[in-house]
Amino acid sequence: MKNVKELIELGELVGKRLLLRPLLISDVTQRYVDWLNDPEVNQFIDIRDVKQNIDMVREYVQSYEGKNNKLLLGIFEKGKYLHIGNITISSIDWKNGAGSVGIAVGDKVYWGKGYATEALSLASDFSFSRLKLHRLEAWISANNLPSQKLFKKVGFVQEGILKDRVKFDTKYVDALIFGLVNKEA
Ligand SMILES: CC(C)(COP(=O)(O)OP(=O)(O)OC[C@H]1O[C@@H](n2cnc3c(N)ncnc32)[C@H](O)[C@@H]1OP(=O)(O)O)[C@@H](O)C(=O)NCCC(=O)NCCS
Repeated sequence: MKNVKELIELGELVGKRLLLRPLLISDVTQRYVDWLNDPEVNQFIDIRDVKQNIDMVREYVQSYEGKNNKLLLGIFEKGKYLHIGNITISSIDWKNGAGSVGIAVGDKVYWGKGYATEALSLASDFSFSRLKLHRLEAWISANNLPSQKLFKKVGFVQEGILKDRVKFDTKYVDALIFGLVNKEA
């Protein structure tokens, strides 16, 4: 099996305004915990019903350490080296060259300015060029329009629908499956 840690020992992935790097336990601040508890930020994320605290988030970050099938990258604004969100590449299936991607820009000051587009593009390029994956996929709730727009903008296409897959309070909502295939490999 490939070692994700070795594969990502490239330091940082640097874009125009952002850099991505593996998140460390020392990156867990109260500011980061507060994003996760913000109903606008967490409304489409699984943890929305569970109030987060520093220890829970540290444990979450630690759960990625030394794993061969998933990685957690922090999104940092380059100029200020400020942590503004996260990207995960998880459920990596090395045999079939597939992985799942998830993203959250937690600092709402950075919403609507193209930061998620830049971060998702960087993570997709990295998954194809360094991890040598062949495809990436994401499940997006049908009511999460910003995220659908984001993934389409980066080149993902909707491939399927899982009916009534996600429960919001008492209501079931479809999950849309988006995929991006590396045409060069
Ligand atoms: C979804 C999310 C990552 C988008 O981040 P962002 O940095 O604001 O996205 P960008 O600025 O790169 O915008 C990407 C596209 O989405 C659109 N978009 C962003 N926010 C939007 C909103 N609130 N309503 C409608 N469209 C929106 C942008 O207009 C842009 O499309 P366009 O260039 O065609 O106009 C961010 O809103 C977020 O973290 N939300 C909470 C967590 C979440 O839902 N994660 C996804 C789980 S699948």
